[in-house]
Amino acid sequence: MKSLFPELDEIELDARKLNIQRSPKKGGSSAVDSIPYISELNVEIVENTQPMQFASNVNEHIHRWAPYVQGFSATFVQSILNQYRKIYREPVILDPFAGCGTVLVQAKLNGYKSVGTDINPLLQFIANTKLNSWEVSPNYLFKVYNEISKDKPLDAPAFLKSASQFRRPVLRNLELINGGIASIETRTEKQEKIKNLFKLAFSAILVDCSNLKRSPCLGYVKNKFVEDSAPSVLFDKKIREIAEDLRLIQSRYNDFIDTESKVICSNAMTFEHTDKFDLAVTSPPYMNGLDYVMNYKIEMGWLGFVQSQRDLKSIKDAMVVCDNVSKGLVRKFYGSPTTYTNPWIEAIKTDIQKSIARRGAYRRQDMPYIVHKYFDDIYKVIKNVASSLKYGGRFILVVGDSLIADVYVPTDLLIAKIGLDLGLKIERIEKARERRSGQIRSYRLRESIITLLKR
Ligand SMILES: C[S@@+](CC[C@H](N)C(=O)[O-])C[C@H]1O[C@@H](n2cnc3c(N)ncnc32)[C@H](O)[C@@H]1O
Repeated sequence: MKSLFPELDEIELDARKLNIQRSPKKGGSSAVDSIPYISELNVEIVENTQPMQFASNVNEHIHRWAPYVQGFSATFVQSILNQYRKIYREPVILDPFAGCGTVLVQAKLNGYKSVGTDINPLLQFIANTKLNSWEVSPNYLFKVYNEISKDKPLDAPAFLKSASQFRRPVLRNLELINGGIASIETRTEKQEKIKNLFKLAFSAILVDCSNLKRSPCLGYVKNKFVEDSAPSVLFDKKIREIAEDLRLIQSRYNDFIDTESKVICSNAMTFEHTDKFDLAVTSPPYMNGLDYVMNYKIEMGWLGFVQSQRDLKSIKDAMVVCDNVSKGLVRKFYGSPTTYTNPWIEAIKTDIQKSIARRGAYRRQDMPYIVHKYFDDIYKVIKNVASSLKYGGRFILVVGDSLIADVYVPTDLLIAKIGLDLGLKIERIEKARERRSGQIRSYRLRESIITLLKR
């Protein structure tokens, strides 16, 4: 998008570059900056490098049905389940931030009951479809596929800029597939499940058919040319992939097809679970991480989960805060009397405020409050999950720390501290991966696995 004030942008860009050059954090690391926090908490961070990211799931059965950018690797989830195999014989698993369901799908592949929450209705739909279609006959899937009508287009969602997101003939072909799916009858549960699989397959090909790319944020890419036939070719490939996995499930995991697994579209801060859990395994949104709503707006619009930008915004406002949240939401939080805080959070807020004043400007002036709201949101989730854990149960969180306006934020240690404040024991903190700060590339951050125990 072109700016109305290019000169001002240039000034701002120069100021940013200057701040990066002058940053006292150049070449630094979270390992050094977290020393005072580690000693106050009296913990150690042990190395345990792991394959953490979702990217490796593209070749894994079921996990590969839908693309997802910031999820777990199935291998990591399996390693956690293996680790506790002897402690919990048939654990009941919770993922409060279920995303596309990696934890829950992996739990079901082990025959474990699982429950998840996710506030994004698209992700809840994807996860539930991945979890609860295992009995669908691949032959029946193909039968319905071959009968899908090809002459009843359904218009692309009006509020999205579809004409710039897709080439015209590609858009038309997508509208035909979507219309065909919409006309599938759903009088029986079996038909409903088939239709859901088609909707999932359709959602999974949308970005590949578009002029955009997720890397990890959704954005336009130069020189991307999508063939007119891409929708039907990719849709066909996806249906075949799903059918192949259904065959595998029905031969190898037949005993687990009826294992109870569900994802509820709800807020992890407030949802009251009726189950009690042995293991909660999750990765919360990262503070300066992805905007899960904007990143999935195309799929959310086409599948009918949202009808307007306003719908998207209201989902985003209810989520754990990220750094491009609306100003109004953060402003409302300023004077709220019920917020959680602790001395670390207050000191970090003051340091960020001073640093922004020193720089003269920053991406968000209200960053101290965003940071505070993030930990307040996380506090509510940990409290809620802790109350649903059995005694002896564990809450395992994977999270990355941050550098904000040259101030180090030890997210993992803060989460551990919140757990402690809520009466949980910090059993372990492991460093799973090294990351680079988005602001100061030479600053090394970490991604950690925090294990909290309910005694
Ligand atoms: C890092 S992702 C989880 C990915 C998941 N581990 C996977 O592999 O699929 C975080 C998820 O938290 C969800 N989320 C954010 N705020 C939430 C809230 N308040 N309640 C429930 N889910 C929320 C987002 O929609 C997103 O799907």
